[in-house]
Amino acid sequence: MLFDPRPKESRSELFDREKELESLSYFVKSGSPLILCISIRRIGKTSLIKVFLNENNYPYIYINARRLPEYQYSIRGSYTLLAESIALSRFSNKLLEYLKGLRGVKATILHGGISIEFNWKRREPSITSLLEKLNNYGRDRNTFFLVVIDEAQELRILRGYNRLDFRQIIAYSYDNLHNLKFILTGSEVGLIYNFLEFSKYDSPLYGRVSDEVILSRFSREESIKFLYAGFSEAGLSVPRNIIEETVDALDGIPGWLAFYGYKITQTKRFDILGEILEEAVKVALSELEKIVRASRYYGLIMRAVAMGFNNWTSIKRAIEAWVGGPIHNKTLFNGLNRLVDLSVLVKENEKYDFADPVYREAAKRLNI
Ligand SMILES: Nc1ncnc2c1ncn2[C@@H]1O[C@H](COP(=O)(O)OP(=O)(O)OP(=O)(O)O)[C@@H](O)[C@H]1O
Ligand SMILES: [Mg+2]
Repeated sequence: MLFDPRPKESRSELFDREKELESLSYFVKSGSPLILCISIRRIGKTSLIKVFLNENNYPYIYINARRLPEYQYSIRGSYTLLAESIALSRFSNKLLEYLKGLRGVKATILHGGISIEFNWKRREPSITSLLEKLNNYGRDRNTFFLVVIDEAQELRILRGYNRLDFRQIIAYSYDNLHNLKFILTGSEVGLIYNFLEFSKYDSPLYGRVSDEVILSRFSREESIKFLYAGFSEAGLSVPRNIIEETVDALDGIPGWLAFYGYKITQTKRFDILGEILEEAVKVALSELEKIVRASRYYGLIMRAVAMGFNNWTSIKRAIEAWVGGPIHNKTLFNGLNRLVDLSVLVKENEKYDFADPVYREAAKRLNI
């Protein structure tokens, strides 16, 4: 169903994205060992990757790095997610054959599948030895083994004392494991580039080349077509003016368009754009509140931009008026850069705006 609110799994549920699927296919077959799939939130990265994996026969594991915070970004968490991704893989039985010789692997055959545990306390098996085995699996079948890490910017938090530097692992694999490729997605676009640091001399990934699939929002025309196609699939005929009004409010973000379509097909009422926007704004607000927890200034900056103060001087003046005193240039500079890195704001010609209109609305309601 085109309006299914979960990430899509098959091409029949995915609107358009033919070109992106083709690029991904080409890069896996003939490109770099490191492929990035980048967009702001709710544009369809996870859907694109899942459809690709389901359509192709590459052996793969899928790791959702957004789950790392559940484990406080610990070694235990990284090992647990890795073990789960192998256990859940379509190829888990055959993969186990390859992991047998490694120290620290405990596999239990359950009714409906397999449970795998690693000895994370001893860091066994080492992640590179694990990847070597996955590489061998691909090599023996004359194909590539794909290690897919969704929301890979989260891996940056694993760095630091006694943690894991995933960049070193990727660099090792890049140079040595010729039948293994990484596909990383990222929705906090600046953070993922800052993490990978391709151009920093002392970074493990210095000088490596990656291929990129950049997903954009739908154009106005595509958004209209998407809504028509989804409604026609659901057997509903929705007046053109309602569709246009929605498209204007949601600015081509597939996730919000699908959310809207889904709600309409559930309620069979067409006059609920206001209610749906309200719900979407609440979701966005809870995401922005997480950012504000790190620093109140992020909240003040977002509120200023949401109210239309869009350049350095006007944002600075607005915040100074609110706090009743000066804000250091460095604080403002770092705050703005961070919000751009998080892909909440975009900067064009020295002017700042929200990447997503729903977030703009949410920012107006921040309680700071
Ligand atoms: N091309 C598309 N056709 C149909 N539905 C789509 C498409 N792209 C995205 N969606 C829908 O939009 C929502 C967000 O998609 P998805 O989760 O794949 O995006 P994402 O970029 O991974 O988002 P996030 O950054 O939040 O993880 C889902 O409901 C999905 O079904
Ligand atoms: Mg996703």
